[in-house]
Amino acid sequence: MLARMTVVADLPTPALVLDQVAFEHNLVSMAAVRPGAALRPHVKAHKCTAIARAQLAVGHERFCAATPREVLGLAVAGVGTDLLLANESVDAVRLRALGDLGDLVTVAVDSEATVIAAAAAGIRRVLIDVNVGLPRCGCAPEGAGSLADLARAHGLEVRGVMGYEGHVVGIVDAVERAAKCERSMARLLTAHQQVGGDIVSAGGTGTYAVNSWANEIQAGSYALMDTAYAELGLGFRPALRVAATVVSINPNFAVADAGLKAFGMDHGDPILEGGEVLFCSDEHVTFRSEASARVGERVLLQPAHIDPTMAYHDRVHVASGPGLGAEIVDEWSIDLRGWD
Ligand SMILES: Cc1ncc(COP(=O)(O)O)c(C=O)c1O
Repeated sequence: MLARMTVVADLPTPALVLDQVAFEHNLVSMAAVRPGAALRPHVKAHKCTAIARAQLAVGHERFCAATPREVLGLAVAGVGTDLLLANESVDAVRLRALGDLGDLVTVAVDSEATVIAAAAAGIRRVLIDVNVGLPRCGCAPEGAGSLADLARAHGLEVRGVMGYEGHVVGIVDAVERAAKCERSMARLLTAHQQVGGDIVSAGGTGTYAVNSWANEIQAGSYALMDTAYAELGLGFRPALRVAATVVSINPNFAVADAGLKAFGMDHGDPILEGGEVLFCSDEHVTFRSEASARVGERVLLQPAHIDPTMAYHDRVHVASGPGLGAEIVDEWSIDLRGWD
């Protein structure tokens, strides 16, 4: 007799579940607009080499990452031909490990200290990271040329510039988003004129279609989708859910076994279709549902922010579709988590 297939409702909970249909739709839709090297998928959004491999399979060979661990993990897995650490680091040990990968790796630099750290670690290639309005990393556009000169004086190949317009990607109004993106990219292009090189790297899921100034877009969330991005009407579908089991019932609410340690919460509560999440605590989600819940029943919740959600789990179960009855067809390790 054939063993019964595992479906989402059979999984021990909390369990992270990827809807294969929505996920593939997202990858194919993005690749149609930003084919090949026009997209440099950001692996920080999923921290999973199996997902990066799927992005490679639809044509993207260049990747970017937020941590040396993510870059190294991709290199060890043999995924990608051009890996960018789109972040600053002065960690001599971790940079040395990237330096040992030669021309496969490029790192972002935005100061004399990061240039010196990269050169000392044997890094060969850099991008000048420019502040385009987000109060985070990046040098002032006016300082980009002299930083590039300094990098070249240290023997580094300067491939161009990057600048992340993270303060713009979530603006709901499309006209305002495009106008503010243009303003940010004017700063990046000013810097590029002084720096030279082939690469102008920028953008994210919210600006992938409007940022026509960058020649590669660093989108990550599009593959699985944050709930806030749904308001922007970008055409991508939610592909990540957490399955939980109802463990307690009260006349006014029900409680399931997934909480703060199962969901990235900085963008707000997870969404429960057909119900309302009241709040999350460490290991619980308290909710009201339209249908009366019963103990032992499974529910599916959509995490608001996928990056930290992925980073909380060891693995993601790949399901044939969105619901509790979908078949589990694979299991992927979230193997780029952590820092070492
Ligand atoms: C440097 C950089 N580039 C690109 C992105 C991509 O953003 P998203 O995941 O919204 O596509 C991020 C996200 O924080 C980022 O930090």
